Amino acid sequence: MSDIEQLKAELLGAIGEAADLAGVEAIRVSALGKQGSVSGLLKTLGKMSPEERQVEGPKIHALREAVTAALGARKDALESAALDARLASETIDLSLPAPEMPKGSVHPVSQVMDELAEIFADMGFAVATGPEIEDDWHNFTALNMPETHPARAMHDTFYFPDRDAQDREMVLRTHTSPVQIRTMLSEGAPLRIIAPGRVYRSDSDATHTPMFHQVEALVIDKDIHLGHLKWTLETFLKAFFERDDIVLRLRPSYFPFTEPSVEVDVGYANEGGRRVVGGSGDEPGHAWMEVLGSGMVNRHVIKAGGLDPDEWQGFAFGVGVDRLAMLKYGMDDLRAFFDGDVRWLSHYGFSALDVPTLSGGVGTPA
Ligand code: DAH
Repeated sequence: MSDIEQLKAELLGAIGEAADLAGVEAIRVSALGKQGSVSGLLKTLGKMSPEERQVEGPKIHALREAVTAALGARKDALESAALDARLASETIDLSLPAPEMPKGSVHPVSQVMDELAEIFADMGFAVATGPEIEDDWHNFTALNMPETHPARAMHDTFYFPDRDAQDREMVLRTHTSPVQIRTMLSEGAPLRIIAPGRVYRSDSDATHTPMFHQVEALVIDKDIHLGHLKWTLETFLKAFFERDDIVLRLRPSYFPFTEPSVEVDVGYANEGGRRVVGGSGDEPGHAWMEVLGSGMVNRHVIKAGGLDPDEWQGFAFGVGVDRLAMLKYGMDDLRAFFDGDVRWLSHYGFSALDVPTLSGGVGTPA
């Protein structure tokens, strides 16, 4: 056997026996490294005569290729064996119990929204929605607030710097009332809807945040009168607070989109610093608390909704969801709703499985 063949047999044998990647690497260095045996042979080519080189050259190059290929093959084999071993040892036992980990909970605002949807679904109301980026016409003009109307100033509106394609001023909606217009225009009459969602005003203290939540309600039908509004509000608030002794006070008020307009107060007692809803606000130890705005839909609004106000009437109201949640579950600072503090949430939040139902109770704290 020539030297080359002998070297080849030795190297291939060693490679075949290399037990791990480090062993393969050591052989690579000993053969193909700068001082390696195969590299040494390659260097001898320079000193050979052309005739010799023609004979030896191909043999030495073939040796280098055979060793390189064997090293690669051994490396692949070892790597795939290592992967197989890892896969075999790292199995997951799906029958083990899940590890302890922080659990999320349903935010009180989401819970109250669900409670309201449940209560109103039971009274035959569908859920409608509208955009939070609203145009000036839907947010104000169609709701009987033309450009010069003083009520616009009360809304602390966030305006966008640019107008839309139809050259309308764009705003973050200041209330859910524009959904009234959108739904009348898209669905016609009769109508019975609630519209829950986010609204925005540039205002911030313990009871005001720049973003908050409202639920709008709109009923359009024939011969609708204030009695329907009163019954609906009483039924809704009794179901929501889960008490039969709720007493309402309807106070004459003013909204551009309703005529007449009514603000609604709920009687409550002050018990050890806590507000407990129920009873007449005029009783000793009691007081009234405003919970919503409402009224009979203004003729101008019905017209803006594409309907004939001599044929269709209706009532509407708008409630602050965050305020309802504070009242029912005894939170005193609205800002905490949006702090994202997991301790607050685990104290006031709800279990994801605690879906409100009228039969099971709409709002059982977690
Ligand atoms: N949009 C009013 C607000 O945000 C609330 C409101 C009052 C809504 C009376 C109504 C309504 O539908 O009839 O202050």
